[in-house]
Amino acid sequence: MRLVFMGPPGAGKGTQARRICEELSIPQISTGDILRAAVKNETAMGLEAKRYMEAGDLVPDSVVIGIIRDRIQEPDAQGGYLLDGFPRTVAQAEALDALLEELGSGLDRVIDLAVPDSDLIARLTGRRTCPACGWGCHVLFAPPKVEGKCDSCGGDLVQRADDSEATAKNRLATYHEQTSPLLDYYKSRPIFRAIEGVGTVDEVYQRLQGALA
Ligand code: AP5
Repeated sequence: MRLVFMGPPGAGKGTQARRICEELSIPQISTGDILRAAVKNETAMGLEAKRYMEAGDLVPDSVVIGIIRDRIQEPDAQGGYLLDGFPRTVAQAEALDALLEELGSGLDRVIDLAVPDSDLIARLTGRRTCPACGWGCHVLFAPPKVEGKCDSCGGDLVQRADDSEATAKNRLATYHEQTSPLLDYYKSRPIFRAIEGVGTVDEVYQRLQGALA
């Protein structure tokens, strides 16, 4: 399976992608995670990306297209993959189509996870993650067993720098301006499915399984 997960910030792409990837034994390729690792490691790419991410703006297309070009050709991606948060502009989608044609492959599903703006700010500002193992939760909707501590490894939970209310609002505005036009790019294709992202994590997961069947 070669999958694309689209949807606004906080729609639940990462939450659902982890489960789907485990079930299908395919890698979750999140441009956000790759960029955050580059920022943390202070690589040249990380230093370039940092100011865009801190402001809630998109990192330039050339940077993220380069990431995906390299990543989907790695050995663990030969049996399929899930692209989480890529493409995010029409230029990125066109570059992905060209790359897949060059590689002689194609996508099996493009899934759009739809959640109204009114729910998204609460999802983003309440998110906490564990920097040690990557485990994630929500202070209200999926709280950790011990406040502030990771359920998986016991490490201290942190809030992502771009999950402050002001930056989250800009990320949503950026989504509507630059990413939502992508729906028109994909929606006439038979591989496109729109999924309602409101409800419990299990309910959304069941809808996703139906869309992937
Ligand atoms: P990225 O990391 O991709 O962030 P995003 O798209 O904004 O998505 P999020 O990770 O915030 O949300 P999500 O949909 O994965 O939700 P989650 O499952 O965590 O990108 C960050 C930045 O990197 C961008 O702003 C940009 O600067 C740059 N970037 C990345 N890709 C790029 C690209 N292609 N081009 C250019 N720049 C790029 O869920 C959120 C919270 O909600 C969690 O706390 C979760 O527990 C909770 N939750 C999940 N599901 C439910 C549910 N059903 N009910 C209640 N709560 C739920």
